[in-house]
Amino acid sequence: LWLAVGIRRRKPGEPAVENGLIPYLGCALQFGANPLQFLRSRQKKHGHIFTCKIAGQYIHFLCDPFSYHSVIRQGRHLDWRKFHFATSVKAFGHDSFDPRHGHTTENLHQTFLKTLQGEALPSLIETMMGHLQDVMLKSDTLSPSKDDWEVDGIFSFCYKVMFESGYLTLFGKELGEDKCMARQAAQKALVLSALENFKEFDKIFPALVAGLPIHVFKSAYSARENLAKTMRAENLSKRENVSDLISMRMILNDSLSTFNDVSKARTHVALLWASQANTLPATFWSLFYMIRSPDALKAAREEVKKVLADAGLTADPSDPTLNLTRDQLDKMPVLDSIIKEAMRLSSASMNVRVAKENFVLHLDNQDSVSIRKDDVIALYPPMLHYDPEIYEDPYEYKFDRFLDENGQEKTIFHHSGRRLRYFYMPFGSGVTKCPGRFFAVYEIKQFLTLVLSYFDMELLDPAIKVPPLDQSRAGLGILQPTYDVDFRYKLISNH
Ligand code: HEM
Repeated sequence: LWLAVGIRRRKPGEPAVENGLIPYLGCALQFGANPLQFLRSRQKKHGHIFTCKIAGQYIHFLCDPFSYHSVIRQGRHLDWRKFHFATSVKAFGHDSFDPRHGHTTENLHQTFLKTLQGEALPSLIETMMGHLQDVMLKSDTLSPSKDDWEVDGIFSFCYKVMFESGYLTLFGKELGEDKCMARQAAQKALVLSALENFKEFDKIFPALVAGLPIHVFKSAYSARENLAKTMRAENLSKRENVSDLISMRMILNDSLSTFNDVSKARTHVALLWASQANTLPATFWSLFYMIRSPDALKAAREEVKKVLADAGLTADPSDPTLNLTRDQLDKMPVLDSIIKEAMRLSSASMNVRVAKENFVLHLDNQDSVSIRKDDVIALYPPMLHYDPEIYEDPYEYKFDRFLDENGQEKTIFHHSGRRLRYFYMPFGSGVTKCPGRFFAVYEIKQFLTLVLSYFDMELLDPAIKVPPLDQSRAGLGILQPTYDVDFRYKLISNH
């Protein structure tokens, strides 16, 4: 009978099992309604590791931060590729990147490290800074004035500015666009249509990851395919200043894969999504919390002023050409802490590994549990991010939470009197840790530096409540606000 209804019985040595009340779905609905609350209540009942059936899959949730290491280090029993590659195929429709499936021999991980980190960063940073200022002050995306306040939603503002700048930074500009008005208009139309398509597709992303076929969502399907069309080789080759990431991926798609043209283009859509889907809400939360907290705003303004002065730079909206090097951006601990704290409160990315075989997982304090082949082991970082033992008053935004007594980055956090190795994980962990994380933080820092340098900003309602997180994306990254918050801005008046 157990087998017939698909219910697992706990064997000796295995974690406690929650089969849930509904066949197949198991605990999916309770988990989906409020993952943190659900996991906390199960942790109270079962301890640091327990198993939940969610949408047909048995998932072991590990809740003890001191045991995280046993999952994060690349053990021979755990596979990260299976889940990650399969998820990307489901959502974006390209052929598999898993070399075991025989469509490509590219080591995607290496491509990401080479083109998003280390020596690749200075040019990404410089290009992004140029685009951010063009979008904020030169193009007609915003129309800030010295005299009149402009009202906009903070999310809408961040979306427009970051999407366009990030898109152009990765995918370059149309050849000759600078010189010709008609080309400029075409370029603008392309970015706007990419933004609309991205939004339409991104809406149903959680459903795709959950396994629903994209054909159920007609307009999202055409949005994804429209994006892919613009990213076919014949179109990308007409663009200049394409990032190393995209140009290297084009070469490797051609030389190492058997992907057809559509599949190749869809791999670029996947990168557009990876580069934007978390950055957009992370920028929103950073700007929102910064404006809402007078202390944060003051400290950030002072830091930006000092960094610009030390660099001998003056912000001039009529000639918006500020440039900060990586080193200068590294010397902004206040902005760092403002961003980190915003992401602590809004991130909900699940870290997932799949068991390659039956094995025994060794936990902290000599505990161990038996895991079955093909089971999933998951870490859910909000359990850390909202733990009052680690972060006092965890639901409160404290802009200086990640600053030490010398005003520098704070890296020491404790739980139960022991120093934690893992306390902040919005970018995932171990081998699957986001390869774009350095660029992501730089671009949000650049964005904040520029809005602080060029604009006066105020919330329309200074006492406005923090909008709730949209939990429909729990597990997938930075959560969006359930509604936008209005603010107003105008060009800063001391110029
Ligand atoms: C993967 C977070 C921005 C490129 C990931 C993962 C997370 C994440 C949680 C999955 C890690 C895992 O499964 O364990 C974020 C956040 C961002 C951000 C919070 C912004 C605040 C970016 C940017 C880029 C980028 C700007 C590129 C320009 C990627 C890529 C992957 C990835 C390529 C897939 C890596 C792989 O599968 O090997 N990101 N990300 N991310 N991210 Fe980011």
